Amino acid sequence: MTPSFGTPLQNNKYILQEEIKRGISGVTYKAFNTATKQEVTIKTLNLAIGQDSYLEELRKKSFDEARRLVRCSHPNIIRFRDFFIEEEMPYIVMDAIRGVTLDRIVFPNNPLPEDVAVNCMRQIGEAVKVIHASGLLHRDIRPENIMLREGGQQVVLIDFGIAREFKAGSVQTHTHITSDYAPLEQHLPRAKRSQATDVYGLAATLYTLLLAKVPVSATLRDRIPLSAPRDLREDLSPEVSVAVMKGMILEAEDRPSNVDEWLAMLPPIQNKNFIIDIPEGLIEPEQSPEIDPEPDRIPSEVKTSNSNLSQYIKIALALIAGFVIFDYAIIKFRPKNPQPEQTPNSEIVPIQTQFKV
Ligand SMILES: Nc1ncnc2c1ncn2[C@@H]1O[C@H](COP(=O)(O)OP(=O)(O)OP(=O)(O)O)[C@@H](O)[C@H]1O
Ligand SMILES: [Mg+2]
Repeated sequence: MTPSFGTPLQNNKYILQEEIKRGISGVTYKAFNTATKQEVTIKTLNLAIGQDSYLEELRKKSFDEARRLVRCSHPNIIRFRDFFIEEEMPYIVMDAIRGVTLDRIVFPNNPLPEDVAVNCMRQIGEAVKVIHASGLLHRDIRPENIMLREGGQQVVLIDFGIAREFKAGSVQTHTHITSDYAPLEQHLPRAKRSQATDVYGLAATLYTLLLAKVPVSATLRDRIPLSAPRDLREDLSPEVSVAVMKGMILEAEDRPSNVDEWLAMLPPIQNKNFIIDIPEGLIEPEQSPEIDPEPDRIPSEVKTSNSNLSQYIKIALALIAGFVIFDYAIIKFRPKNPQPEQTPNSEIVPIQTQFKV
């Protein structure tokens, strides 16, 4: 079953704190690593779909995503931390990024300055080159899968859920692709795979960053033509507009064949020290690091969330301190020779016996 928030994992090493997103097949959580005292992001399966026969396939998908992440290491690719299976559920642990996805920056109406948008796509282009050099295609490059770090300067590619190994030019089955950022060949059940598939995703993402508009889906472009960015926004350079349109050519063979070729079409960046303003409220204020108890000393009934847990610990410490002070006061101020209380009931233990230390 999909775990609920507060669930401890791996013998309390990780505690799930908050659900970030529940997709069709996966759930992403904010979580806490009690060993390193760091926030992490954990992805697992969404089993609300309740199809046991599907479980094995999803588990394999998760394992594949972890394997792919391990193979790709780059500052603009999310850092993989751990993978494990617990109670038959697979879990991927990644660094938590403090930031927001680019769709939340540009939509509904905040197109980025050309220089800034190009800078972002150059960073992601470098990440995709590493993915291609590992023999993989990402296949899901879009603003929702790119996070802008707090600080507004670095972007990071996340979500390797549908990345795949590929052999250049071979015909393989594409699965689960419905995105408007996916080229035509990804909508076809059997089509040639090549690095040009990801070039389309990069160009389509740049289209959105420049125009705050989702591009026309490749499947509709024979009916609804795709307007060139410069036709919709006059201040854009001809170079950037051409780079977008060439990267989004419908036939894979006619597109720039690899990321380097596409990046070479982009105009040079004038200002490298850009900062994208992140609207207030999109990033939660940082929590001050709290001292956490040893995980194995946490009583099971307080293994809920990290904040609840530290509250319980504080209350427990306050109670213990109270008892110690109270005991000390009794010992210190007790009468030297207290008289036994006069009571007709002989079974009551005399107070002096209770005070013996
Ligand atoms: N490492 C991370 N740090 C912070 N937030 C993250 C991280 N990874 C993902 N997120 C957040 O979780 C959301 C969902 O993540 P992701 O895109 O990986 O999953 P998904 O789209 O639901 O997965 P899939 O496409 O595999 O079903 C992202 O949009 C982002 O807001
Ligand atoms: Mg995603």
